[in-house]
Amino acid sequence: MKAPCMSIAAAPVEVALFDLAYATALAPAGAPSPRDLADAPPREPSRTLFLARRAAARMLAARRLGRPPSDIDIARDAHGAPRILAPDGARPPHISLAARANICAIALGDARVGVDLEPIDEPFEPPMNVLHPAERARIAASADPHEAFLRVWTAKEAWLKACGTGLAREPARIEIRPVGAQGFAVRDAAATAEPAFARSVVVAFGGRRVALAWAALA
Ligand SMILES: CC(C)(COP(=O)(O)OP(=O)(O)OC[C@H]1O[C@@H](n2cnc3c(N)ncnc32)[C@H](O)[C@@H]1OP(=O)(O)O)[C@@H](O)C(=O)NCCC(=O)NCCS
Repeated sequence: MKAPCMSIAAAPVEVALFDLAYATALAPAGAPSPRDLADAPPREPSRTLFLARRAAARMLAARRLGRPPSDIDIARDAHGAPRILAPDGARPPHISLAARANICAIALGDARVGVDLEPIDEPFEPPMNVLHPAERARIAASADPHEAFLRVWTAKEAWLKACGTGLAREPARIEIRPVGAQGFAVRDAAATAEPAFARSVVVAFGGRRVALAWAALA
């Protein structure tokens, strides 16, 4: 049987995957908040998936803060990045989300975090123009260019989400460099900091293989 959620990491960044098809697993989050209902896209299936992501995020943040999920409110900043609003004085964790179809990744941390995921088992033509020249060379020389591309891409998106800009910036100007089997470094001339913590992994979840990356700022 497939699991409705899986913990991937606990510290310094907490990362979990959810299969949003399991509505019963999200039931403890209770009814959607008025903000969730107002922020949700109007059309299906995007609306149901957005509300399921918010339910999963409120559950994870509530567990971390020792509060009921109904105390957790998730807003967005001016760039669209999600922000947990503090329930009466509690210091809320930073949050990041990513989703592909039913699979959702959520990262929580004490510093700003970014997370991204891409299923590896879908054939597609990689958009090479999003890559830095050094990344292109490394991917072309790798044993599995498809997987290598998705690991670089998820790492780059995780970094850009942690920075709070998303793809409003030119991704080809940023270089992701693998460090060991699971780490990565970032060369980003526009950034004021290196990632304090960065991971890129491939995991099996929901019957799929998924490239998953997360990063935290210092
Ligand atoms: C953030 C962004 C990279 C997400 O890309 P995506 O592949 O469509 O979607 P993902 O599943 O990976 O991530 C979605 C999550 O990104 C988060 N997000 C959105 N804008 C963000 C930002 N500026 N910084 C950090 N996270 C952001 C949201 O939490 C969203 O999940 P939610 O809708 O459940 O809240 C993209 O939406 C983006 O670049 N947005 C900001 C700039 C912009 O809007 N540019 C116009 C298009 S170029």
